[in-house]
Amino acid sequence: MTDLATFNPFDPDTLQCPFPHYAQMRTEQPVMHLGSMGMYLVTRHDLVLQIVRDVDTYSSQFGMASMPMPGDSQERIAAVISEGYPRVPTMLTADMPDHTRYRRLISKAFTPKVIAELEPVIRSITTRLIDAWFAADPGESLDLEFVEQFGVPLPVEVIAHALNVPDERLADFKRWSDDSIAGIGTQIGLEERLEAEKGVNEFQHYFAEQFELRKSTPQDDLLTNLLNARVDDDDSDVADKRPLDMPEMLSIVQQLLVAGNETTTKLLTETVRLLAENPDQWQQLRDDPSRAPAIVEEALRLSTPTQGMFRIATKDHELEGVQIPKGARIVIVFASANRDVDLFGEPDAFDPDRDNLRDHLAFGKGIHFCLGAALSRLEGKVALEEFARRVDRFELDESNDFGYHPSFLLRGLKRLDIIVTPAGSDQ
Ligand code: HEM
Repeated sequence: MTDLATFNPFDPDTLQCPFPHYAQMRTEQPVMHLGSMGMYLVTRHDLVLQIVRDVDTYSSQFGMASMPMPGDSQERIAAVISEGYPRVPTMLTADMPDHTRYRRLISKAFTPKVIAELEPVIRSITTRLIDAWFAADPGESLDLEFVEQFGVPLPVEVIAHALNVPDERLADFKRWSDDSIAGIGTQIGLEERLEAEKGVNEFQHYFAEQFELRKSTPQDDLLTNLLNARVDDDDSDVADKRPLDMPEMLSIVQQLLVAGNETTTKLLTETVRLLAENPDQWQQLRDDPSRAPAIVEEALRLSTPTQGMFRIATKDHELEGVQIPKGARIVIVFASANRDVDLFGEPDAFDPDRDNLRDHLAFGKGIHFCLGAALSRLEGKVALEEFARRVDRFELDESNDFGYHPSFLLRGLKRLDIIVTPAGSDQ
């Protein structure tokens, strides 16, 4: 048992496995004031749900989710940021009514029909990546590092395709995505942070140029659609409605880039680890690939790549007997809600046959419900279907130390070493 009074989310052991701590909080202090960090952690499923639904009391205008830095660091960071376009809130960090306006525009690009049309692209990237594993020694088992050889490239290539980024910029694209989350839920040094902010500026300049190019030469793509979109911020006629400005468009693209990459990488990696650890589930998937969506869902619940998100209290109020002052920063811990025993029996078990598989909050709920949920579900499903077809088994290499990135908001394995045996092999 932890002494909750001294709980530190950045403690290396806690980052490695926060779940027992969350279980204790759910029972003892489901709304816990973390005085040392000036935050409140909310860990019970019903309370997390209450918060995401009550957008009047809990604002999403938390700005950057980066950790504050001491001394003159903030000024130095601000100086670098000022070299780019203003960083404005659009979806994730906006409240109604602004949130609704932006969300409505972008939702059009993420309808079930548009996402379903991406399936052939996802499948072709997936099969190309798997073929590359076995190319050197067809029919032989091989050792591979899954994050680098599948977890990262699949989502990066899919979202780059959706944003029409040419292949030769893929490496930059991934770097900009890493830079965008460098300070989120983690403690990094000032120099590292400054480099990351420069990377974000570089990202902005690249996409600003792409938008300018499309002004003169429109294309059939998301960027051109954003250019042509008109914001619904008053009752004026369509002709008077204003276009999005550059900072708004860049903010939207950055959210798609970041959200589309990191979280899905983490989900895919964790799913393969779970299947390697549960050979019976792997065998059932091989026998019946239509189990893929249920496996993805249960992997989402257990891994919850977005472990938590911030909200800001808009007024003094009480939650579960705890006084929360106006302006307080609250962390809603989706990862904890997803293991709440009141909802999920044997919450730590990997059981894709649970009745209430989709009651998890890995994609949040309410007005900020993940815009890319259908896309990442589809990527997970296609990946599993192709694995089931082309892979005989995944085994975890003994060298794995299962180290996680040091962030308490975005949780994912740094690497996953696996031995893959191709289907049809007699080994
Ligand atoms: C496994 C993959 C993913 C996970 C676990 C995940 C998780 C989440 C969560 C928990 C939220 C809600 C945050 C809140 O309530 O404050 C969210 C919002 C969001 N996600 Fe995802 N996400 C994933 C993939 C994606 C993808 C692929 C995209 C886009 C291509 C995306 C775009 C967004 C956007 C734009 C929002 C903000 C929506 C809004 O505020 O209206 N996500 N995501």
